[in-house]
Amino acid sequence: MEAGRRGRIVLGVTGSIAAYKAAELASQLRQRGYDIRVVLTKAAQHFVTPLTFRTLTGNPVLTDLWSEGEEQKAEHIAAIESANLLVVAPATADFLARAAAGLADDALTTTLLAATCPVLVAPAMNHRMWKNRIVQRNVATLRDAGFGFVDPEEGWLAEGESGIGRLAALDVLLARIDAALARKR
Ligand SMILES: Cc1cc2nc3c(=O)[nH]c(=O)nc-3n(C[C@H](O)[C@H](O)[C@H](O)COP(=O)(O)O)c2cc1C
Repeated sequence: MEAGRRGRIVLGVTGSIAAYKAAELASQLRQRGYDIRVVLTKAAQHFVTPLTFRTLTGNPVLTDLWSEGEEQKAEHIAAIESANLLVVAPATADFLARAAAGLADDALTTTLLAATCPVLVAPAMNHRMWKNRIVQRNVATLRDAGFGFVDPEEGWLAEGESGIGRLAALDVLLARIDAALARKR
């Protein structure tokens, strides 16, 4: 299908060990006909590279507010202005805190505050972090602000133990994204 026919998605990827799963998500979304613009946090780039996402999406990747040229910055402001959905997957505890506080201290949080489209957040973290009251308070704040959540799943975690905190499965993420975009039509 022609890329972009089904809408434009800005995909934010943060510094979780699950960041590698966002590469497959981006690829699947492109194959479904969405135009994908990726924003990587600094921490995400310890796990995945901009080149991976540039290759998989066919679009430039926003990594930093300051080091990129004006042209790319303007391009991404234009991208979020015309986006149909902003998805953050995986979303770290740190991202949830900064988003809940309304900070705009990096490319992703700045993009988030500029977004007028629906926002879907898929957290991924250690089970103790996910159950932490401060994290849950931040989730509640973001839900109150109208953000949709694809809650983490129970299962094997990278630290070598089981619990709730795994990034939602790819088919679950794809179904929620399709549903969110179907509502806009
Ligand atoms: C190996 C490793 C794995 C990590 N995985 C996670 C994770 O799954 N979830 C999470 O919330 N933080 C995780 N962190 C911590 C974040 O990378 C850290 O809080 C960082 O500041 C997040 O920045 P960002 O939200 O800007 O991407 C991990 C850190 C390391 C070193």
